[in-house]
Amino acid sequence: MNNTTHTAAPGRVNLIGEHTDYTGGLVLPMAIPFATTATVSAAESGYRFTSSAFDTVRDTFAGDTTAATGEWSDYPVGVLRELLELGITVPPFTMQLDGTVPLNAGLSSSASIEVATAVALLRHAGTSLTAPEVALLCQRAENRYVGSPCGIMDQFVVTAATAGHALLLDTRNLGFTLLPMNTGALAGCSIVIANSMVKHSIAAGEYGVRRRELEEGQAVLRARFPLLRDLGDASMDHLDACRDSISEEVYKRCKHVITENARVCEAADAMRAGDAAKLGAAMLQSHISQRDDFEDSVPEIDFLVETAMAQPGCHGARLTGGGFGGCTVNLVDSANSQSFRSALQSAYFGHFGIAAEVYICIAADGALARVKDATHA
Ligand code: GLA
Repeated sequence: MNNTTHTAAPGRVNLIGEHTDYTGGLVLPMAIPFATTATVSAAESGYRFTSSAFDTVRDTFAGDTTAATGEWSDYPVGVLRELLELGITVPPFTMQLDGTVPLNAGLSSSASIEVATAVALLRHAGTSLTAPEVALLCQRAENRYVGSPCGIMDQFVVTAATAGHALLLDTRNLGFTLLPMNTGALAGCSIVIANSMVKHSIAAGEYGVRRRELEEGQAVLRARFPLLRDLGDASMDHLDACRDSISEEVYKRCKHVITENARVCEAADAMRAGDAAKLGAAMLQSHISQRDDFEDSVPEIDFLVETAMAQPGCHGARLTGGGFGGCTVNLVDSANSQSFRSALQSAYFGHFGIAAEVYICIAADGALARVKDATHA
């Protein structure tokens, strides 16, 4: 019997809906072709994680209470702990993690490792969980063990995505709709990701600061309007009514989230109508809101967005992911995507002396769809 399994989970790019996934809002990401592969082999005893990207090996066992180490292996160990805490019996194993998702680029390398680990170990244990259960378990691993205060978007789309579609997720109830990427004019467009190579990490402080600012604003709104559950319910009228009770920073952060939720709805309508110009316009407005109100952009990213918008065939461009570096996502006519890539790279290198990586992507399958395909193969 072959007791080695391979399980893959993709990275993701968020088309629109940034910093809305921890206050009951809407997001519209898709999975990308880069992936993490977890190769699991049965072992005599214990649990061992190895990785081709890092030369450390991490051994652990059921009941291990060692604190997180701050290394890559915290992600899979955190997931294993959550599985064991659910009462799932995980037989001894060695897991090798290999991956192509760019690290610290805002493309969810962490969620990709977590979800690959979770789905691989569920297979190894001979059991399964639903997509929301897998996503929530991985989010708990990251929040509780790794110590990053992330929302649910990344783990959810990495688990549940379907190739050829973006995933419109309501983060309050985890209801989702798959929106085809090839309706109308969108059939002639590509999603182009530009990596600024400026490192982004949500374990670094700024993400947590923004999250606390939003929670502060949300608490004031709730005290004033008790029927509001979270910012996902709030309108600009609600926020303006509380303006005197919150700082200018908190006002701007909340304004971004409230207007961003509306932009996600506009973007989803544009996708349904196959309207590339309308989708691109919502993306650009989202960037402006992040730059001016949420203040999570950096000069390199603003340069990439401005340069992108000046290129032929570019409908929209914006900072994607947690912010403070990382990548932009661009909606570009496919006929122009190669020249778009070259123009962006040469302008960026000319200005900052940094070689940006640019990826022309199609929407990929999430981890659960890949397991199904492997099972049916
Ligand atoms: C990171 C987090 C997500 C989300 C985005 C911002 O990717 O992991 O949960 O908050 O930032 O939209």
